[in-house]
Amino acid sequence: MPSALPPGEPAPEDGRLPAPALAELGTRPFGMYVHVPYCRVRCGYCDFNTYTAAELGPGASQATWAESAISEVRQAREVLGDVDLKVSTVFFGGGTPTLLPPAELGVVLASIAGEFGFARDPEITTESNPDSVAAWDLDQLRGVGFNRISFGMQSAVPHVLATLDRTHDPLRVPAAVEWARAAGFEQVSLDLIYGTPGESLEDWETSLDGALGCAPDHLSAYALIVEDGTALARAVRRGELPAPDDDDLADKYVATEDRLGSAGLHWYEVSNWARTETARCRHNVGYWNGDHWWGIGPGAHSHVGGVRWWNVKHPAAYAERLREGRSPAHAREVLTAEDRRTERVLLELRMATGLDRDVLDGAGRAAVPDLVKRGLLVADAPVLRLTLAGRLLADAVVRDLLP
Ligand SMILES: C[S@@+](CC[C@H](N)C(=O)[O-])C[C@H]1O[C@@H](n2cnc3c(N)ncnc32)[C@H](O)[C@@H]1O
Ligand code: SF4
Repeated sequence: MPSALPPGEPAPEDGRLPAPALAELGTRPFGMYVHVPYCRVRCGYCDFNTYTAAELGPGASQATWAESAISEVRQAREVLGDVDLKVSTVFFGGGTPTLLPPAELGVVLASIAGEFGFARDPEITTESNPDSVAAWDLDQLRGVGFNRISFGMQSAVPHVLATLDRTHDPLRVPAAVEWARAAGFEQVSLDLIYGTPGESLEDWETSLDGALGCAPDHLSAYALIVEDGTALARAVRRGELPAPDDDDLADKYVATEDRLGSAGLHWYEVSNWARTETARCRHNVGYWNGDHWWGIGPGAHSHVGGVRWWNVKHPAAYAERLREGRSPAHAREVLTAEDRRTERVLLELRMATGLDRDVLDGAGRAAVPDLVKRGLLVADAPVLRLTLAGRLLADAVVRDLLP
């Protein structure tokens, strides 16, 4: 969750939602995102809404995080009313959720179960930094109900990890995956980053092979983004590090598809691969399908029935609002039908399931034959799907389809 918040319109103090948005509840799966805004150290490339102990300041502490999060879960139940709304997916992200004791995450999960209940076979994920989990923690996390875990591996190559300011020993990742399997996690995912300054194609292939050696069910591979305001952006601006190069990123993406495809992992979204359909991250698929979700925690974003809102960013402001019985929502936007159509094009096109051609307007439909001719799209009536070349140029394809 990047830390910059959009401006939006003010959100009501009690967090209530417009009746038309509430009327859509129950028509689509419902998920809960829970943001844990703490990290032991800040990685130089990361602009997520997260705080080290030194950055946190007074008014909030890790010790009161669960209490505030539980108040927001109760508020969510009140705002959403009595409608039967079983939770299909829960995703604890960060920051680094596993910096907190598993029992603290467990009480928040239990409050979600108590207020809403879980749908059949819920997917319950936590992100984890391999540096901040031990075998015992994984047993505890499984014990309190998590069944999917995503480790921030990033790279298997020491000099790349060092440029990214990652502190973990690469050997920690296979160990953590083994502990997760032994603890009974049903799904294990790894995050990798490609395009780090100084990373060669061979380095990237080493990372892919290292990840595949752990036999994950799921893998996310993200092109390094140089986010404004980060230490990485400052180093690039000063000329100390080169910015990621588009051709290098493209070569690494093609190598990723090649290596992962041969190992039986199939892409289902431009940056995500899964071994089976069941191993896809259902929570993220819910975001991309425009489902409903409530984001608990500082800076967390939510969406219900075309209304998006986002919480105040700082943990102290977040805790204070909840202590005073006010909504932590900072601002919101009510999407128009046209906004919702645009989002569908942006998000559905990036998935292997593709975009229904009928979502496009006349000008967008008129752009399809040329994109097909250029080998960027396959038109499998009525669905449009990106080819491998199209996945490399997904943003440009979207621009042509949303003239
Ligand atoms: C919240 S972190 C995962 C959990 C844990 N905090 C960790 O880093 O190990 C989410 C993921 O976002 C990705 N990420 C963060 N900033 C990024 C950036 N600037 N460019 C590309 N990927 C980024 C990383 O792969 C990271 O694993
Ligand atoms: S540990 Fe994860 S969330 Fe924390 S700074 Fe690093 S990438 Fe960002």
